[in-house]
Amino acid sequence: MTDPRSDQQIDSGKRTWIIASSCAGAVGAGFVAVPFVSSFQPSERARAAGAAVEVDISALKPGERATVEWRGKPVWVIRRTPEQLAELPKLDSQLADPNSLRKPDEFTPEYARNGYRSRKPELLVVVGICTHLGCSPSDKFVPGPQASLPNDWPGGFLCPCHGSTFDMAGRVFKGVPAPDNLEVPPYMYLSDNRLIIGEDKKA
Ligand code: FES
Repeated sequence: MTDPRSDQQIDSGKRTWIIASSCAGAVGAGFVAVPFVSSFQPSERARAAGAAVEVDISALKPGERATVEWRGKPVWVIRRTPEQLAELPKLDSQLADPNSLRKPDEFTPEYARNGYRSRKPELLVVVGICTHLGCSPSDKFVPGPQASLPNDWPGGFLCPCHGSTFDMAGRVFKGVPAPDNLEVPPYMYLSDNRLIIGEDKKA
């Protein structure tokens, strides 16, 4: 068996995905794990077909993000901290679509139409592609004043291309170019520590 880490890159410089190139070029490029998630290893054949991918999240600690590739897209899996979860209900008035009512069939499956946008509060699963023009937002998990962000920044994501901002549930803030919240892909739990991304119905 090949080393599952052989096609992974733990390189923060590679975390910026531009979907226009990743669609064509990412198959075979492996997946980017920040931090390392031990047993993500879909077969090359499964990846090429855009099949659902399984992810072992047992190594993912609170406040960390892993990125897996599904259908040529980066999918983020983030284990949110209690502090990050506590911020979410306070942000509604600052958000463009706090309840994920816009195009729900496209962006938010039914099980994620809640204040956390997730099946279980602590774990966020979203496609890491900005809904403006497809750049990949950067992690800005640390709250507080910092470059390019408001002084009362609660923690979330910043898209470097045109400045769109999203909270820790992938909900877009008002007054930025991105029109919609980040997409929640189909997913479900196979067990407490295993997810499948790309499938959300039991056979
Ligand atoms: S692509 Fe993200 S703000 Fe324009």
